[in-house]
This record gives sequence, C-alpha cells and structure tokens, in this order.
Amino acid sequence: MQVVGMSEVSATPRPPSVHPLVGRVRVPGDKSIGHRSLLIGALCDGQVDVTGLSDGEDNRSSARILGQMGVRIERHGAGRATVHGVGLDGFTAPTEPLDCGNSGTTMRLILGILAGQTFEATLIGDHSLSRRPMKRVLEPMRLMGLEVLAAKDSNYPPLTVRGKRPLKAIDYASPIASAQVKSAVLLAGLYADGTTTVTEPELSRDHSERMLAYLKEGSRLAARPIHVPGDLSSAAFLIGAGLLVPGSDVVVEDVGVNPTRTGFLDALAKMGVVVEQGAPVERNGEPSSDLHVRYGPLQGTRIDGTLAVRAIDELPLLATLASRASGITEIRDAHELRVKESDRIAQTARMLRSFGVPVDEHEDGMTIHGDPARPLTPGRIDADGDHRIAMCSSLLAMIAPPGTEIIGAETIATSFPTFHAALVSLGARI
Ligand code: S3P
Repeated sequence: MQVVGMSEVSATPRPPSVHPLVGRVRVPGDKSIGHRSLLIGALCDGQVDVTGLSDGEDNRSSARILGQMGVRIERHGAGRATVHGVGLDGFTAPTEPLDCGNSGTTMRLILGILAGQTFEATLIGDHSLSRRPMKRVLEPMRLMGLEVLAAKDSNYPPLTVRGKRPLKAIDYASPIASAQVKSAVLLAGLYADGTTTVTEPELSRDHSERMLAYLKEGSRLAARPIHVPGDLSSAAFLIGAGLLVPGSDVVVEDVGVNPTRTGFLDALAKMGVVVEQGAPVERNGEPSSDLHVRYGPLQGTRIDGTLAVRAIDELPLLATLASRASGITEIRDAHELRVKESDRIAQTARMLRSFGVPVDEHEDGMTIHGDPARPLTPGRIDADGDHRIAMCSSLLAMIAPPGTEIIGAETIATSFPTFHAALVSLGARI
C-alpha cells in the first residue's frame, strides 16, 4: 500500500501482514492530560515535573504557545519534561500570533487563560483548526469579561482577544457536553471575582477537574509532579488492530482508564469482546492500567447517549471495526463528530465506502452494514488533516488487498507519531 502525504511518501502495512499481531506495547501519553499538564502546569507556582508526556504535535503546540508567553518548558527525552510555572500572574504578552496548529484543545483551553490576562493576543491554526467553531468558548468567555476584537464570522480563527482582571464569576450551563468548553470556563474561573460553576448535558472528560483538585491550594495552584498515562485513544487503534487480525493477542501497558474516557471499551463489550484490565494505579487523580485484548468475533450494536460521549474520539474506529462485525451497528447522538478535526461522520462514511463497506449517513451518526466475510476493495482516502481518519484507513489497509492510498497520512503524528512503529513491533509487515 502506498501512503501519499503532502510532504512525504511512506509505506504502511500491506497484506499478507494478516498474520497475528502479538506482544506488549506502550503508546504515547494521553493527549488531553498532556495538554493540561502543560497549560495548568504553567499556572502553578514553581516547577512541575511531568512524566509520560507525548511527543505528538498537538501537545507540542501547547508547549510552543506557552513559550511565547514566557513559560519555560524543558524536555528531557523519554516523555520527561519540566514546566517552569509562572503562577496566575506571570505570563508575558506574545509578540507574534499564537499558532495552535491542528489542536482544538490548545486553542480552546488557552482562551480560558487569556481571558484573565490584560494583554491582547491573536490565535491562529492550520487549515483544519481554522474551520472549527470557537463561539462555544467565546460566548462564556465574553460573559466573564473577555473582549473579542476579531473572529471570522464571530466563530472561527484567527481570533484576537483581550482579557481583563478580575473576570466576572458565572454559573454556566453549557448547551453541549464539551470538555474544552468546560475547561476554558474553569481556567477563567481562576481569575474571577467569586465561584464559577459549569454544568453540562452529559459528563464530558473530567481531566481538568481532576488536575485542578490535585494541584489547588487555596486560591493558587501548587507545583506537584504529574504523570501522564498512555492515551486510551491511541491504545484503541492497537486494540482495534488486534480485533481485525485473527489470532492476535496484544497488551498495551499503562493506559489511562478514567471512566469518562472508557466508552470504547464498553462499546467493545457490547460487541462481544472483553478487553481485560489489570489492577488500576492512580496518580494525580488519574487511574491507569494495562489493557489486554485477544482477537474475537464482533457483533453489531447500537452506540448512543452517554456512551457516544464517552467514546466520542473512538467513534470512527468503532465504525471501522463495525464494518467487520456481524450485522448492523448504529451510531447516534454524535452530532459533535461533525466539528472535529474533520467532519468525522462524512469522512468515516466516505472512507468505509472506499473500502467497499455500505454505510448510511445520518445527521447525528451513521449505520454500518457489517460483514466479517465481505471482501474489501483497496481504499483511496484523503485524511483531510484528520489523524484518526488516517489511522482507521491504515487498519483497514492492513486487511484489504494491496493498493490503498492515504493522502495526508503524516497527520498521524498529531496524536500518535509511533503508530506504525507500534504495529511493526507487534508483527505487522510494512
Ligand atoms: C478534548 C475534548 C473533546 C475531544 C478532544 C479532546 C479535551 O473535545 O474530542 O479530542 O482534551 O478536552 P470537545 O470538548 O469538543 O468535546
């Protein structure tokens, strides 16, 4: 299979790699917790030692823009870093626009911090991020006192904002279950003149709440060490690989299993496969454990409601696995997928169809007509700046006849730069 990137041409697995994937492997640190270790670490009074931090480009974007505001971050290799926290009051005005790259989390969370600064800042992003809605964060920030000086159509980057002190404390009822919106409000709340609260229609990932509770000391944040466990959203792709290739037996070590993130594992259980979890270890309020999967047949299922929120980033992968399950899988209540790194409902449907899988698209999800015996055709996919679509395509390419083409596969480095190396270490042929 050939992978044609915008700036590189590389190879990914091709049949007959369809011999079992076996072994133990680690994945990069959790992207969500990594962002928070940097952004919240920067707000601490003193030196925060971080272990397990991912080398992925998204976390690098957070580190880079903090550097532009006077926060020194040293990387020591192997996931170790030191964030020299400047406290709530130590940021300096950036002299250039803050480039958040592909990272929605970077842009939305930094708005919470910028709301409490008295300087002006401009936020920009790549092609994908420039299409993502920001009104959902700008609205509560405005209520708290942030001035929005520029935003395309009042919604899209580039954004120019100016914060103020103190901000007004609010009780915010978020219309959507979004950890990014919730986190921006909570971070701005650190700069407000009273208690700020957020409620949401379903509980979204709660990493910010856990980290703030771990670091909070009165009205300040104390410098304490942070361990970032492996990213379940990356581990999911290796677990998924094990479920596509008969005879596979894969252990992913030290994976974050915060219950707001484990919808993928619950969805697999509904599809008939139990991923075994070792005894969880808890550090800085985040549980982690080894995950063990053995190949087994999958059944179609329904994924909706709270489960869709708890598996939001894994829904394209679950749809991919559903294409090899017996029977129909219906994914619903997933409107949010339309505004991720790409329109993931349209992109997942397009990607699956290019491999010959019938899919019905709905406004809030999709129906996948699964069949483990259906011969796949080699796909042709433009990842369109979306790392998870590129990884889903790679997995199907592994079991499809040669000839799949993935355009823009280098975007995988956004979250999982070692994706192909991890597959190779489990025995996949590149
Ligand atoms: C994230 C929250 C989710 C998720 C994203 C990471 C975070 O987005 O999809 O990949 O780290 O807070 P929303 O807040 O838009 O739901």
